[in-house]
Amino acid sequence: MEQKSNLQFTKPVVLVGMMGAGKTFIGRKLAARLGLPFYDSDAMVESNTRHSIPEIFERWGEAEFRRLEKAVILELLDRKPGVISTGGGAVTVPEILEAIQNKACSVWLKADARTLLTRAQQKGCRPLLSCDDPRAALETLLEQRAPLYARADLAVETKENSPQSVIDQIIKGLEELCRHKQASP
Ligand code: S3P
Repeated sequence: MEQKSNLQFTKPVVLVGMMGAGKTFIGRKLAARLGLPFYDSDAMVESNTRHSIPEIFERWGEAEFRRLEKAVILELLDRKPGVISTGGGAVTVPEILEAIQNKACSVWLKADARTLLTRAQQKGCRPLLSCDDPRAALETLLEQRAPLYARADLAVETKENSPQSVIDQIIKGLEELCRHKQASP
C-alpha cells in the first residue's frame, strides 16, 4: 500500500548518483507520489540542443556537455519545487554541486559497481562507458565521485530494494531531513 506524503515542499528534490542508479526511473515515480513535476536534466539537454548525449560528447566534447548540463540544472533549481534527476557527472561541476547543496534536498541513489554496470549497459548510450574496459571506467568514476555524492542530504541503497521500497525510504528520509532543512531560511 503506497503511503502519501503530506510534506509541503519549498525546495526541489534532486536525485544524484552514478549511471545505472535508477535516477530517472525512481525520479519519475517519486514525483508522481509527491504530486510534484518531474524533470530529467539529460533529457532537457537533449531536447534543448536537439542532439543526443552521445552526439554532444562526440561533436563538442564532455566540457561542452557539462556547460549545457549546468545551465539546465541551475535553471531547474530556481523553478517551483519538483523532482530533478541529474546526470551521473553533474556533481563534478562545482557550481552545480554548490547550488544543489544550497537550494535543494538531495538524495544519493547508491548501488555497487557491478549492479550499476549491468543496469547502465542495459540502456546503453553512455559515452563515458564506450571504451575497452567499461567496468574499470565505471569503478574509477565511482571512486572519484563517491565523496561528492556523499554530500547529499540522504543516501538510499537501491540494489536489494524494490522501486517502491526505495521510494518509501526516500519519502521517509525527506520527511525527516527536509522538514528541518526547508524550515531554515
Ligand atoms: C554521465 C551520466 C549520464 C549522462 C552523460 C554523462 C556521467 O547520465 O549525463 O552520459 O558523467 O556519469 P545518467 O547518470 O543518467 O546515465
